[in-house]
Amino acid sequence: MTAPQIKILLVDDEPNITKALRRLFMQVDQYDILTAASGADGLQILENNLDIGVVISDQRMPQMTGVEFLAQARKLTPDAVRILLTGYADIEASINAINKGAVFRYLTKPWNDQDLLEVVAEAVRSFQLIAENERLNKLVAKQNLALQQWNSRLKQRVLDQTAHIRAKGDALAESHQQLRSSFRETIEALSNLIEIRDRRTSGHSHNVTKLATAMAAELQLDDSETEKVRSAALLHDIGKIGLPEHLLGVPPLQMTEKDLGEYRLHPIRGQAAIDMVPALRDVGVIIRHHHEHVDGSGFPDELRGRRIPFGSRIICVADTFERALVHYPERTALESALREISPLWGKKLDTDLRIILETAAPIVFNHLDISAEVAKLQVKPRDLKAGMQLLRDLYSGTGVMLLNKGTIFDETAIALVKRRYQIDPFDMDIPVLVEPREK
Ligand SMILES: [Fe+2]
Ligand SMILES: [Fe+2]
Repeated sequence: MTAPQIKILLVDDEPNITKALRRLFMQVDQYDILTAASGADGLQILENNLDIGVVISDQRMPQMTGVEFLAQARKLTPDAVRILLTGYADIEASINAINKGAVFRYLTKPWNDQDLLEVVAEAVRSFQLIAENERLNKLVAKQNLALQQWNSRLKQRVLDQTAHIRAKGDALAESHQQLRSSFRETIEALSNLIEIRDRRTSGHSHNVTKLATAMAAELQLDDSETEKVRSAALLHDIGKIGLPEHLLGVPPLQMTEKDLGEYRLHPIRGQAAIDMVPALRDVGVIIRHHHEHVDGSGFPDELRGRRIPFGSRIICVADTFERALVHYPERTALESALREISPLWGKKLDTDLRIILETAAPIVFNHLDISAEVAKLQVKPRDLKAGMQLLRDLYSGTGVMLLNKGTIFDETAIALVKRRYQIDPFDMDIPVLVEPREK
């Protein structure tokens, strides 16, 4: 790489001197020589060449002395190195100029060529150093500024991104929460379907759910396991929706062999019904086995002991206990039901869960829907079923007595009420007592 050119300005009113100096400096390739015959000319050249590195001026010139010229030159090109050529008589003025900073060095005339070359070479190095230093300072300042801007942009971007991520996170959490609660609501809605289909077991699924969930809490199951037990409890009898009308509410012990076969399909149908929902597959397995007995005498797969899923064993206990509860007056139901099921531990029910049930049941018992009130309904004529008992005298719209309080509805009585309702409608719903729930 060739060194950059350095411009050197020579100012002297004697053309011979500038010529001689030019010749001298031509020896150095790096120098680019400019000349002027007066201070005024020199200033003119400087104005057009602000990159001049070295200025050499004679002291004795008409109009403007070298020191005056260099003082002016300093204002135009402060970084250029200024050298004064002076006679012995002017040395004091030269030293003054050096002290005021107008001049870098002075040389006495006549000069020694070698000395002059060395002084100028030193001046050039000094100028280059200053220029390089200046360049580096500017570069550092520029890079600092860029870094600062980059930093503040980065900071802003980080803040923006953080806010963005937080907002996304919040929205995601909210929609996840919404999804979760609508999933739960859907399961409850499905569970309600079973109870609408079979009024005799009104509240059964919800009671089993409360008990099974309380048992899961007692067992300290984690949230996800508890949620599975809860969903399975809500839906455990959903397969009964497919049972024929005449089987609803009939206790299994009173069923014919054929009907019993049909009834025993409900855990499989329940599993099949929800199998298309991947999030409910585990729940489906629990539902499938909720009628398995620990001694292997249950259905549908005659699983034994610990081969029965834990959730299914919990639901089996809650289910059996809840059915027993409704056989007794509310006041004594808890103790009586626990006594009723006690022979079943180790046969139908998992003995490990006995203490869990006995702890959980009293906690939830007051919240279970087992009072006789549940069997009292207000129904429309179209909803009357054989076996319902009329709770007050029933009159037609125009006041004709139709049936006495206490009448147990059969097909004939139902047909009578429906026919009269068409021709002589009454406003009120019919208060009835529903048969006791299935055993
Ligand atoms: Fe069941
Ligand atoms: Fe059940």
